[in-house]
Amino acid sequence: MSGILSHNSKIWEGEEQIIIERAEGCYLIDTEGKRYLDGVSSLWVNVHGHCRPEINKAIQAQLEKVAHTTFLGLTHPSAIELAERLIQIAPGQLQRVFYSDTGAAAMEIAIKMALQYWQQCPSPQPERTKFFSLHSSYHGDTVGAMSVGGIDIYRKAYNPLLFSRISAPVADSDHSHYPDAGMTSLEEIERTISVHAHELAAVIMEPLVQGAAGIQVYPPGYTRAIWEIAKRHQILFMLMR
Ligand SMILES: Cc1ncc(COP(=O)(O)O)c(C=O)c1O
Repeated sequence: MSGILSHNSKIWEGEEQIIIERAEGCYLIDTEGKRYLDGVSSLWVNVHGHCRPEINKAIQAQLEKVAHTTFLGLTHPSAIELAERLIQIAPGQLQRVFYSDTGAAAMEIAIKMALQYWQQCPSPQPERTKFFSLHSSYHGDTVGAMSVGGIDIYRKAYNPLLFSRISAPVADSDHSHYPDAGMTSLEEIERTISVHAHELAAVIMEPLVQGAAGIQVYPPGYTRAIWEIAKRHQILFMLMR
């Protein structure tokens, strides 16, 4: 979440930097030996903690077999095993896995796939080139991911580079956590999507909670309801966590 880091770097510039030398379980330990409870967990990605023996062992075992291969015409047993397990837990008919190394890259890949889908599907609709995303959404800091993001402070310096997105105004604002935060009503989302359905390639949202917006949890059923709206208008639906 580098956008958030660059925003916060104004605050951190004035502080002495903490140098983390090692970690144990859910504690980070700095060069002075001071321990910190790692509540941030590298912005929620290090959910299993640090130096877990079973994870270290698995990484070591993989390195002793092969460190890396391209997926251009190749694959490897660990990639196949993970893909099979992801398919088992994925809902519905989802049976394909395309790996990426960061959230923002996943977003770029999904944007490209959606665009290309409408060019190559059985009834092509190449005019579907726009993306709908939510108010105060965050999807990463590459150019495409920023374009579909809805938090102004992370994108305004880069506006000349970005493509336009379709969004819906907030009906019932809650600005208590974050200047941009607020939840758009389902009625407003349905209205906007139906107006733009003919040109929309996909509807994009973070599932269940908007993290960068200030941990803004959706009301129960909100994600499913937006998925239903996308389905009704035959628009692809992308969830980006
Ligand atoms: C919902 C969401 N999408 C995309 C990203 C970008 O991920 P990355 O920082 O790995 O590029 C983040 C990062 O926090 C995120 O919260």
